[in-house]
Amino acid sequence: MPGRFFITTPIYYVNADPHVGHAYTTIMADVIARHHRQRGEQVFFLTGTDEHGAKIARAAEDSGRTPKEHADALSGRFREMGRVLGASNDFFIRTTDEQHKAVVQDLIVRMHEKGDIYKGSYGGWYCTSCEAFYNEGDLAEGRTCPTHQREVEWIEEENWFFRLSAYQDRLLAHYDAVPAFVRPKSRMNEARSMVEMGLDDLSMSRAQVEWGVTVPWDPSHTVYVWVDALFNYYTALTYADPDADLVDRLWPPTLQLMAKDILKFHAVIWPSLLMSADLPLPERLFVHGYVLKGGERLSKTTGNIVDPFPYIERYGLDALRYYLCREIRFGDDGTFTDEGFHQRYTTELANDFGNLLSRSTKMIERYRGGVVPADPGGDADLADEALAAREQVLAHFDRDDVTGGVEAAWAWVRRLNRLVEEREPWALAKDDARAGELDQALFSVANGLRIAAILLWPVIPDSCEAVLAALGEPVDGVLLAGAAWDAATPGAVVTPPEPLFPRIEVDEVTA
Ligand code: MSP
Repeated sequence: MPGRFFITTPIYYVNADPHVGHAYTTIMADVIARHHRQRGEQVFFLTGTDEHGAKIARAAEDSGRTPKEHADALSGRFREMGRVLGASNDFFIRTTDEQHKAVVQDLIVRMHEKGDIYKGSYGGWYCTSCEAFYNEGDLAEGRTCPTHQREVEWIEEENWFFRLSAYQDRLLAHYDAVPAFVRPKSRMNEARSMVEMGLDDLSMSRAQVEWGVTVPWDPSHTVYVWVDALFNYYTALTYADPDADLVDRLWPPTLQLMAKDILKFHAVIWPSLLMSADLPLPERLFVHGYVLKGGERLSKTTGNIVDPFPYIERYGLDALRYYLCREIRFGDDGTFTDEGFHQRYTTELANDFGNLLSRSTKMIERYRGGVVPADPGGDADLADEALAAREQVLAHFDRDDVTGGVEAAWAWVRRLNRLVEEREPWALAKDDARAGELDQALFSVANGLRIAAILLWPVIPDSCEAVLAALGEPVDGVLLAGAAWDAATPGAVVTPPEPLFPRIEVDEVTA
């Protein structure tokens, strides 16, 4: 039985349009999801939008729309972003879905009945951009939010509280039992110290916020937006497929992605909510860094954003996917620059990969009438190297190291470029006595490219399918098992392709 692999992104706030920061998480999740599909696993990839709370209600008011009208419009943009990015998500959840709201209510009733929810009063500094309270001591200068540098407001009300403090010991025990619960390790340590410092109970309802899920036993309150939002990962499975019980088949998540700003919500609050609701915890969380521009995190609140769509129009989708995977080491911050983007496009995608394909297919046409020669069987060492490349890609993905996986696949592309330079097929073609050597060189480079296309498919799927088509190989043959030396289609006929990554002039870029 193939394993199951349930992967999630955070659900994005619909207060503003998507930018490259959101695109980044969606792309990384998509790359990982595709890689696991190539392993033959039963993958479920979930993303969606977070639509309740004061932040969204205010954004709606500013745009002169009702919260629902506003959420419909903006959720549509996030859905569209996923489509344009080639995201292969199996479901798109909206927290305004009726089914989601009903299951959130069931879950909190369960927690209430258990005695984990009680009424109390609370006063604290609230940042609407974070949708979170801060202690006085955690505020930045001038009583501002440390993340958004915006003024916070004093909020005092009677609320329903979740006994988060009661889960402190169980959380620490879980971190001990599952050291890779949060990756990278530095983030695991950060979560642990948050818990060790002591946890306050969590205000989990709001009397002053109307735009939210009603608390079933107290309709004058709505559920705190983060509790509503976190439960999406579970509620989605209850209705994503009307014909199947996905909870049974897929719960708990295998891997949940997010940026470090929401570590506490996911590594501390989320597992506590699940323990309270008697549900199994996710296997692991991966906390990636920020996409930066000019040293600052991309963020609508600070006005520093990069729109992904112009890059896709100019360079193609795969260029954006490749650049983000490669440039920003997964787990670390990284800077998005136009120059860096152009550079990687030209030297890596166009020269290393695109040119290799066009040279190889042209030589097969010219010297062998377009038919890839059968393997003369003389490249056993190279076959071992191909196997090693695949093993390395797998090992990197086992550690959620997407950047390392792409680098390993790229090292194989470079190896093939060296192979062509070393063997000089154009010189072999001049000497009839060396026809066997020419057959070997042409077979090895075509077969090597076929394997490269499989290894790189999760990152640049459209281009890799074009490579397979040009090589006369089936485009749906992307299982990793097929990235073996002896898995080439016998007698494949090549079709030299349109340039995969056409040259783009720099002044077009800066224009
Ligand atoms: N709605 C909450 C999440 C609820 S999940 C139960 C939220 N939404 S958000 O719209 O602010 O999106 C946050 C996520 O978008 C980050 O965790 C990250 O995955 C992604 N990113 C947004 N900006 C980003 C960068 N500048 N860099 C990297 N990722 C970024 O928080």
